[in-house]
Amino acid sequence: MSVNMGIICVCVVLFMAIEAMGIVTRAAPMDQIPENKNVLNKTRPQFQSLTRPIDYTFKLPIATNSWPEGNGFAGGILDLGGLQVSQASTFRKVWCAYDGGQDNQGASVYEPTSLPEGFSMLGSYSQPNNKPLFGYVLVAKDVSSSTSNVTLKPPIDYTLLWNTSSLSTNQNSTLYIWLPVAPDDYKALGHVVTTTPDKPSVDKIMCVRSDLTEQCETSSWIWGSNDINFYDVRPSNRGTQAPGVRVGTFVVQIGGNSNPPSISSLKNLNSISKIMPNEKQIEGILQVYSPFLFLHSDEDYFPSSVNWFFSNGALLYKKGDESNPIPIQQNGTNLPQDPNYDDAYWIDLPVDDANKENVKHGNLESAESYVHVKPMFGGTFTDITMWIFYPFNGPARAKVKFINIKLEKIGEHVGDWEHVTLRVSNLDGQLWQMYFSQHSKGSWVDSSLLEFQNDTTKRPIVYASLHGHATYPHEGLVLLGKNGIGVRDDTDKSSNVIDMRKFVLVSADYLGFVEEPAWLNFFREWGPKVDYNLDDQLEKLKKALLIKKLKEAFEKMIRALPNEMLGEEGPIGPKAKKDWSGDEI
Ligand SMILES: *[C@@H]1O[C@H](CO)[C@@H](O)[C@H](O)[C@H]1NC(C)=O
Ligand SMILES: *[C@@H]1O[C@H](CO)[C@@H](O)[C@H](O)[C@H]1NC(C)=O
Ligand SMILES: *[C@@H]1O[C@H](CO)[C@@H](O)[C@H](O)[C@H]1NC(C)=O
Ligand SMILES: *[C@@H]1O[C@H](CO)[C@@H](O)[C@H](O)[C@H]1NC(C)=O
Ligand SMILES: *[C@@H]1O[C@H](CO)[C@@H](O)[C@H](O)[C@H]1NC(C)=O
Ligand SMILES: *[C@@H]1O[C@H](CO)[C@@H](O)[C@H](O)[C@H]1NC(C)=O
Repeated sequence: MSVNMGIICVCVVLFMAIEAMGIVTRAAPMDQIPENKNVLNKTRPQFQSLTRPIDYTFKLPIATNSWPEGNGFAGGILDLGGLQVSQASTFRKVWCAYDGGQDNQGASVYEPTSLPEGFSMLGSYSQPNNKPLFGYVLVAKDVSSSTSNVTLKPPIDYTLLWNTSSLSTNQNSTLYIWLPVAPDDYKALGHVVTTTPDKPSVDKIMCVRSDLTEQCETSSWIWGSNDINFYDVRPSNRGTQAPGVRVGTFVVQIGGNSNPPSISSLKNLNSISKIMPNEKQIEGILQVYSPFLFLHSDEDYFPSSVNWFFSNGALLYKKGDESNPIPIQQNGTNLPQDPNYDDAYWIDLPVDDANKENVKHGNLESAESYVHVKPMFGGTFTDITMWIFYPFNGPARAKVKFINIKLEKIGEHVGDWEHVTLRVSNLDGQLWQMYFSQHSKGSWVDSSLLEFQNDTTKRPIVYASLHGHATYPHEGLVLLGKNGIGVRDDTDKSSNVIDMRKFVLVSADYLGFVEEPAWLNFFREWGPKVDYNLDDQLEKLKKALLIKKLKEAFEKMIRALPNEMLGEEGPIGPKAKKDWSGDEI
């Protein structure tokens, strides 16, 4: 169910339920769990029988040590402008809490070890214990030519921000969290953590010259309680042109999350596209990481290629001339190309019933993914967005306790654009996260929580929900609602699967030579706007429910959906969406 940019679909309101249901958090797949599950008994005497996902270090199941030749993609080091950075992902555990936080599994705090020669630590790493250890922090080396105006300086002192001695949580020692006091014109990018109250040495960490730093914001919550919380941070300003670099360090917020973080992000002063993959490398990345997309076993509205949709009768309508729609040419070469979002034009299915039904159901054989490649986090990551087109978004279904109701007109629309995004590190070439689009929003999932195809390719798996085609990392039911009443997204592993490695590169601005197909520059809606009578629909649908209370609850849930969702609305194409040049969500 892709919907218009300004439109909030049913599921947005209820979207939080997805996380509440634990769909995006999952233990390690079995094959990553070492045979001796009790290896931790010695280090954790008081919590003997507990092992947690974090006790396993996640490694991608795919070898990624050889890429086609290029500028510096996956070369390990990037110069941000007198400051080289590299990713450190070997850690020494300093502290852990055994409870609190996500799934009440606690969190752990680490400092990077085995830094490359000449590199210094910028901060410490932390993550929740409910997922395998998988993360990085950037470490840095001064390579400026100046000896008077260096890019890195040690702190002049530390402030003890907090210690955990008063927390009732089960922890293996007291944690002391220090904020480096940066010299004038320098900024701290992370914390030093210790298990004793002794002030750490100023040699422990480096602060960065201000012009190489940027404001950051808290993103995901790691652990904490009322008084003290640990967060992941990211640059506040993100997008294809934004120079902010994610450092990977965590921040401690005392007394709520309304204060800006006490630390900064990095900033890339050099060209953002410096270590972006070239065309051959993009192909290489897609060979290794392109997902398999599993459709639901009851699916009747399949994807197709855009050209199949056009050449099988899709029509272009013009406002004021509705009785004379025109067929759309291959690649959409006769679609309006002006970047306007008005309702002067729209696309619709063929008029005659036989062709209309045929096109509605799509064509799996022709389906292909449309790839857009863009820099992210100051060019330290490549976001590879893979779009799938479905001619029709089928009716949604609701679940009211044990009863399933087909919502018929509610949720249906012509033209459905869905996507997943691979976020690949330009420093080490690893797939770090994947984004799953879900009803005009979506969620990022760490590689460590993805499923991988059990074949020689070991590529990631994506599930598309029945009729709505929202994408999920795992199969099952996601109920977008509460108290057992809501709209349902069902996924399963059927034999209808698309290998997304069948792709067409449609856009990569930084390469400068990718020819965009004409349909990409059609900014209007890919389906018509249709109104229907909601009261009539509801009266009809409520008949399925025998109990008055349930009828009321169901009606309330449906009526709470945004108006835009209740009227059928065609979606806008990939390039008209905000995440085309911005970050996801
Ligand atoms: C670890 O703890 C479990 C559960 O308490 C116990 O069954 C197992 O024997 C212990 N293993 C070792 C190596 O001590
Ligand atoms: C150091 O270099 C930066 C970046 O060129 C500049 O903004 C800053 O003013 C310089 N500081 C001194 C003390 O020269
Ligand atoms: C640690 O925290 C406790 C309680 O918050 C406080 O009383 C104590 O002074 C702190 N220790 C140090 C070394 O600051
Ligand atoms: C707490 O755990 C860390 C990581 O395992 C370890 O290095 C540290 O020594 C432990 N502290 C205590 C007091 O057991
Ligand atoms: C993966 O495939 C192999 C070979 O077909 C099979 O033996 C193994 O059980 C499978 N593993 C899982 C987790 O399905
Ligand atoms: C138009 O579509 C055809 C078939 O998909 C393709 O081979 C061709 O390169 C496209 N032309 C342009 C200009 O995109």
